[in-house]
Amino acid sequence: MNEAGPVVAFSRGLEGVVAAETKIGYVDGQEGRLVYRGFNIETLVENSNYEEVAYLLLYGNLPTQKQLDEFVSRLRDLRPIDPQLYEIIKKIAPSTHPMNTLRTAVSYLGSLDPMSTEPNVEQQEEIGINLIAKMPTIVGAIARAHSKLKFVDPDPTLPYASDFFEQSLGRKPSKEEAKMLDAALILHADHGMNASTFAAMLTISTLSDMYSAVTSAVAALKGPLHGGANERALALIQKIGTPDRAEEVISDMIERKEKIMGFGHRVYKVYDPRAKILKKYAEAVTRQNKTENLFKTANRIEEVMISKLGTKGIFPNVDFYSGMLYYSIGFKPDMFTPIFAVGRITGWVARALEYVRDNRLFRPKAQYIGDKGPREYVPISQR
Ligand code: CMC
Repeated sequence: MNEAGPVVAFSRGLEGVVAAETKIGYVDGQEGRLVYRGFNIETLVENSNYEEVAYLLLYGNLPTQKQLDEFVSRLRDLRPIDPQLYEIIKKIAPSTHPMNTLRTAVSYLGSLDPMSTEPNVEQQEEIGINLIAKMPTIVGAIARAHSKLKFVDPDPTLPYASDFFEQSLGRKPSKEEAKMLDAALILHADHGMNASTFAAMLTISTLSDMYSAVTSAVAALKGPLHGGANERALALIQKIGTPDRAEEVISDMIERKEKIMGFGHRVYKVYDPRAKILKKYAEAVTRQNKTENLFKTANRIEEVMISKLGTKGIFPNVDFYSGMLYYSIGFKPDMFTPIFAVGRITGWVARALEYVRDNRLFRPKAQYIGDKGPREYVPISQR
């Protein structure tokens, strides 16, 4: 015992520790299933859209038409952001990584809202809906400012994903592009108690406000072990360049024990179900946007990887095909992680709300392995 109370177990990085109960989402790493509120992710991507999935994650059931109309119109009304926020984004975005701008933007949004001081649970929910609505506007503005382009106002006639597309890229998506981006946002909406979701839950467990919880989540997502692998996966595919070079380069990397980005997963030991869906879209979108060489090269890398490491449970994960998709429609690679945040915002909010409704302050312990002393204090002149 290091501090008061018993030590339940020691697990580096809390691996395998169950610290919360949830009804929101379920990841089956052996069967390769991702489930939101009981629905297979494939069913939702095929039949639903991001707004409806957000409602499902937040409230537990698919909405009736009336409930969906009300929810969608609430989100649309909340999409615009304060001119001061545009100013801040314009000032900082050109000279820093978009994730730094996003972290500052979410935090700044909190400073504009009087509700952020000691909100009750209903107000936390209101703030959460506000953040879900504004995330595409903020990330779209960051994409524009990062490339020193003029901002594009939100268009309330467009669905969530299409409006995000237009605010970021300055043009309307084709039908296929709209469906693909909507699917990618659905696939990123929730994924167990990952680091950024945990960061949001941890912050809200102190009864801090939802803006602060989401700021913590954005900060956690920024790290390359969490949000950054698709940028690197695309860079590798581009570096390999053509399918015929894949075998040699990948074999050399495996020999040198280098990790191939976009492969392997802590939970999935089979093909990541999100990657399976994104691969289908990647094939279609790269064909349409004349970047099919990327897809063919990636497909060959996948074949080589599975033949060499499939028996170890190493398969493509969500990041392998998502970067190529975003790149093919016109996003710069350093926008990939902010796009992830646009999808994941609903999972952060839903899980933080679920947790705070039955709150228990997170407070794990550290095993003290230092000198227990007491050591003698030596004056500085004698050290
Ligand atoms: N390339 C080559 N070898 C790999 C890879 C890879 N991507 N991933 C795992 N291995 C090997 C690893 O070297 C080890 O081999 P050995 O048994 O000989 O030491 C074995 O497979 C087990 O690896 P591990 O690192 O213990 O597995 P893990 O479950 O701890 O790691 C991971 C999971 C995601 C950290 C790791 O697979 C990895 O670094 N992948 C590349 C980065 C990446 O794509 N990250 C995105 C993950 S999905 C994001 C999300 O769900 O949000």
